[in-house]
Amino acid sequence: MFDTVAPRYDLVNDLLSLGQDRRWRTATVAAVGARPGETVLDLAAGTGTSSAPFAAAGAHVVPCDFSPGMLACGKTRRPDLPFVAGDALHLPFADASFDAVTISFGLRNVADTTAALAEMLRVTRPGGRIVVCEFSTPSFEPLRTVYKEYLVRALPAVARVVSSDPESYVYLADSIRDWPDQVGLGRLLRRVGWRLVAYRNLSGGIVALHRGVRPAD
Ligand SMILES: C[S@@+](CC[C@H](N)C(=O)[O-])C[C@H]1O[C@@H](n2cnc3c(N)ncnc32)[C@H](O)[C@@H]1O
Repeated sequence: MFDTVAPRYDLVNDLLSLGQDRRWRTATVAAVGARPGETVLDLAAGTGTSSAPFAAAGAHVVPCDFSPGMLACGKTRRPDLPFVAGDALHLPFADASFDAVTISFGLRNVADTTAALAEMLRVTRPGGRIVVCEFSTPSFEPLRTVYKEYLVRALPAVARVVSSDPESYVYLADSIRDWPDQVGLGRLLRRVGWRLVAYRNLSGGIVALHRGVRPAD
């Protein structure tokens, strides 16, 4: 599915998020807070849209994804980034390879959330951190209602006009509705072994940023 949406992925994102995705990406980079020289894994990086702001901030970022179509588009558009083909459930990296790991709008798509969070913990050095940027549940009831309507009606309708694969945006709407809320995802992170887990809402909770730290051994 991701192979087919790759060519217009960035444009469709901008349209469907009403331009909000740029703010969400800036907040994600700030939450990771990579210092110069640190190595950051951007998992499920797609075409590298979520990775580029890390490189711009001076971090050594490694974009990793399992979709050949996304990777091919990414390598053409962003030849400066060191794309790696890899499955979130069996990452092709040694234990404790990264200072920080991050995943933007990708964890929801991985077949086994818990296994992916455990793999991310394995490749993070003790004391290193995780930041998950993902769609979540608006905290204000009226916004929640309007947003649900947007997901059910407007998003698939707009996608039919602008996307090469509108069915994948019906999937997107369904997957957002079925995803755990802020507290539920925090619980999953802790269960896997991440510590100091906390979250912050963006755009009223349409998106949430979860943070955690791998405990020192
Ligand atoms: C919605 S895109 C997000 C791309 C990018 N992070 C961004 O913020 O624009 C989700 C990505 O997750 C990737 N993905 C899904 N399951 C994966 C897995 N098991 N391993 C690696 N990547 C995966 C897809 O190939 C796709 O590129």
